[in-house]
Amino acid sequence: MTTTIFYFTGTGNCLKVARDLAKALDDTKITSISKVLNGEIDLSTDRIGIIYPVYMFGMPLIVSRFIKKLSLAKDKYIFAIATYGGMPGGSLGQTARELKAIGLKLSAGFGIAMPGNYTPLYGAIDKNKQKSMFVKETKRIVEIASIIREKKDAKIEENNFLTNAIFSGLIYKASSPKIPYMDKDFWSDDKCNSCGTCVKVCPVNNIKLFDKKPAWMHKCEQCFACLQWCPKEAIQYGKNTATRTRYHHPEIKLQDIIAGKV
Ligand SMILES: Cc1cc2nc3c(=O)[nH]c(=O)nc-3n(C[C@H](O)[C@H](O)[C@H](O)COP(=O)(O)O)c2cc1C
Ligand code: SF4
Ligand code: SF4
Repeated sequence: MTTTIFYFTGTGNCLKVARDLAKALDDTKITSISKVLNGEIDLSTDRIGIIYPVYMFGMPLIVSRFIKKLSLAKDKYIFAIATYGGMPGGSLGQTARELKAIGLKLSAGFGIAMPGNYTPLYGAIDKNKQKSMFVKETKRIVEIASIIREKKDAKIEENNFLTNAIFSGLIYKASSPKIPYMDKDFWSDDKCNSCGTCVKVCPVNNIKLFDKKPAWMHKCEQCFACLQWCPKEAIQYGKNTATRTRYHHPEIKLQDIIAGKV
């Protein structure tokens, strides 16, 4: 039985989950969504998995665009995993609806709590707390793999109706059309040494260097890879990020992120 896991990531949590799940299953291929989105998407395996970070209680826009290209995955067992820092809202329900709209069924939708990476609101959580989340993630993968291995139907994990109506209904619906332009609040400070790492990590090539400084092109996914991977911590967002600790998954390296982009 073969599986392809398609993932999107900014700071590596989803890639780590994809790698752990691939290890737990047989014969599994891991593919970056941003890499295949505009090319050929191999849907020949028996099982198809989609792993993404929750943004504003919903799905990243790039994952919605990717789902629209899966219509040939009829008769496949499809599962999704949403990683989140605090609350997934109705993101997995959204995945189920978007698949249904093209005639596909989401058989299982799992939420996995991982360290948050939204620096405009908070810095990286304490390393010990991160470690305990990673231990829980490893255990969760064992359960999830046993469901996927048997191609079982499982609950689409979500918050309750009222929470989803407010957060995923109102907040996500109001915010998501603005996401590509939310990069207007990124800026680089004096620490920038023009190394170009931000250009290299951006999954949608949204950053260019002008006069040796990054400029954002308004087709942003809000993954925060640029801010989190800048080796000088020179990228800021709005007014409050300068003093906040950066985060990326400790087992995911800069080269892994660069290798996963177009
Ligand atoms: C723009 C943005 C919005 C986010 N919104 C949410 C959210 O609504 N709920 C939540 O629990 N976590 C939220 N997060 C945290 C991420 O979902 C979480 O850290 C995820 O594991 C990151 O995955 P990655 O490392 O693969 O990029 C948000 C992060 C970003 C960058
Ligand atoms: S990664 Fe940071 S230091 Fe390098 S060019 Fe971008 S902003 Fe400047
Ligand atoms: S500009 Fe930054 S936040 Fe936006 S998609 Fe690129 S790396 Fe992600």
